[in-house]
Amino acid sequence: MKRATKLLAATLAMVTAACTLTACGGGSSKGEAITFGTNAEFPPFEYVTSSGVIGEFDGIDMAIAKQIAEDNGMTAKMENMEFDSLLVALQNGQIDAVIAGMTATDERRETVDFSTPYYTATQVMIVREDSDIAAAADMADKKICVIQGYTGEVCVQDMGYSYEAFKKGTEAVMELVNGKCDVVVIDSATAQKYVGDNEGLKIVEDPGAFESEEYAIAVQKGNTELLDKINKSIDKMIADGSINELAVKYTEEATEE
Ligand code: ARG
Repeated sequence: MKRATKLLAATLAMVTAACTLTACGGGSSKGEAITFGTNAEFPPFEYVTSSGVIGEFDGIDMAIAKQIAEDNGMTAKMENMEFDSLLVALQNGQIDAVIAGMTATDERRETVDFSTPYYTATQVMIVREDSDIAAAADMADKKICVIQGYTGEVCVQDMGYSYEAFKKGTEAVMELVNGKCDVVVIDSATAQKYVGDNEGLKIVEDPGAFESEEYAIAVQKGNTELLDKINKSIDKMIADGSINELAVKYTEEATEE
């Protein structure tokens, strides 16, 4: 072989190898990103930490998002914003999907499509250990704290009680700890975290008053291409037990602040 031919052959071999590695030209979407929106104020589902599974973001949802992207040869990007802004950002196309411990409610279904549910939760009441609140009806004459835009706010509203709404769960819990409110209504697993992180609090459940809720990933209405990808991945993670494992892992693990 002449020197020039040898060089050409070597170059070709390299290009072929590079193509195999990156699957270039094969129509694969590897390297493309799915941009998820979240509100990283909701342990154990999403919170900010020194080194999370997606940048500084960690939690059950973050691990799920990462896996969904990986299953589809893509990377997961995370945009952190206020919970209230998530569905608007989704409709604007600023993000591709919302993963935020978001309950698939009929009201939200009017504007977005939801994936297969991946987690079942319920609203609970966090109270101080010496509280006489034993059921939802006992909140009637108490100072109630909720988080703005969460399903817990809707529940308390539907019960006809007045309440104060905070932007973050931690803010509402601080009010409770400081005696400025009597009860915080919030999702079960997150309540568990807050009770573990703060002295003198306990959880009161009332399954008769609070219906169970299902967390799902939201996409733009009609975005079946992305929804199919997400659902395939979720179905697999439910079937092989990995979502269960993540739930156990992040529920037991102390949330790094
Ligand atoms: N499950 C509740 C809801 O959908 C609360 C979700 C809060 N999530 C969050 N990432 N801050 O309204």
